[in-house]
Amino acid sequence: LQLTVHVPGIAGRTYDVVIGAGAAAALPRYLESAAPAARYAVIAPDDVAEHAQQLLDVLRSAGRSADLLWFPAGEAHKTRDTWAALTDRMLDLRFGRDCAVIAVGGGVAGDVAGFVAATYMRGVPVVQVPTTLLAMIDASVGGKTGVDTAAGKNLVGAFHPPRLVLADPLFLRTLPDAALRDGLAEAVKHGAILDEGYLDWITTDAGAILAQDPQALEELVAQSVRLKAAVVREDPFEAGRRAVLNFGHTLGHALETCSGYTVSHGQAVAMGMVLEASAGEALGVTEPGTAERLRAAVRACGLPVAAPAVDADALLAALRVDKKALEGRVRCVLLSRLGACAQDEAGRWTFDVPEAVLLDAVRADHRI
Ligand SMILES: NC(=O)c1ccc[n+]([C@@H]2O[C@H](COP(=O)([O-])OP(=O)(O)OC[C@H]3O[C@@H](n4cnc5c(N)ncnc54)[C@H](O)[C@@H]3O)[C@@H](O)[C@H]2O)c1
Ligand SMILES: [Zn+2]
Repeated sequence: LQLTVHVPGIAGRTYDVVIGAGAAAALPRYLESAAPAARYAVIAPDDVAEHAQQLLDVLRSAGRSADLLWFPAGEAHKTRDTWAALTDRMLDLRFGRDCAVIAVGGGVAGDVAGFVAATYMRGVPVVQVPTTLLAMIDASVGGKTGVDTAAGKNLVGAFHPPRLVLADPLFLRTLPDAALRDGLAEAVKHGAILDEGYLDWITTDAGAILAQDPQALEELVAQSVRLKAAVVREDPFEAGRRAVLNFGHTLGHALETCSGYTVSHGQAVAMGMVLEASAGEALGVTEPGTAERLRAAVRACGLPVAAPAVDADALLAALRVDKKALEGRVRCVLLSRLGACAQDEAGRWTFDVPEAVLLDAVRADHRI
């Protein structure tokens, strides 16, 4: 079974996200129409060697010219240095403007290889082959690429939508369970902000998803991609509506930072969603009972409903530097109910939330 979701790119272009257990074997066929190129640069982190090598073999057996370029795995290497090393390597290997980049790996690979593609010879096509759940349902869709700098994450980059995304759930078999659960947090988010039925399905079928039942994973990736694509379609350059994808991320990022990154992004977002729902309920914006149902979904996914204690001052400091903050005031995406986001009186998709309300939500949850 292979599912295809059509996603809007920019300048009138669209691209397909092909989802299927075993779909990797069909990569050459998909490339033929989506990203024909004289030569392919397969860019991957050094810890997904098995998958990258498999794809290289598939390409070469189909008679495609392809080379494998490695970079050191991990967020610490999502940098301009890695971008420079990869572009220099492509120049050494004499890749021309008629090449295309194939990004294989998690969100880090997609972002850095996507940025290489966005800039190499002023831009060559990129194909995303995500190998983490987070990359399949989030990072590979939407066209954002870039690297981190000392001043912060994702501060240098470009919008460069892929020509094709190929998501093969079989790649997830080598992924640690914790990383699978982290990715699920973003799926819960998609349900929470856009589709109550999807949230219920995740809550009920979390067991099959966590056990990596191929059909459950295909369904999960397809539904999440469909939902994210609908948001991206309305707001390709993140001018307004796309902000809803940040639900749970205001408190989430702050908790992640305060924990010194001992709490993972997915865990932090899981807690952030429940807490932001509580804050929304306290403000009378979010339907009562929403936080409780989100908590049940988060628990079903094996994500934490309790975090290590954090210091209130440190949390406030982290909240004030959030990129959604306006003039130092903290802003959050708030649900009106499960499956729908609320708009403030000015029609914005983020709300000015008093710090005391956020602190109360955290305190009531015994997290401070
Ligand atoms: N562009 C976007 O729209 C967007 C959206 C969300 C997140 N992101 C970015 O994505 C990144 C996080 O992505 P991530 O969570 O995938 O982390 P990641 O890319 O760092 O992957 C985690 C680790 O797992 C390894 N790995 C990947 N696939 C594997 C597999 N199948 N088996 C075993 N190991 C595997 C990776 O090489 C890495 O070491 C962040 O940098 C974030 O900023 C981007
Ligand atoms: Zn996130």
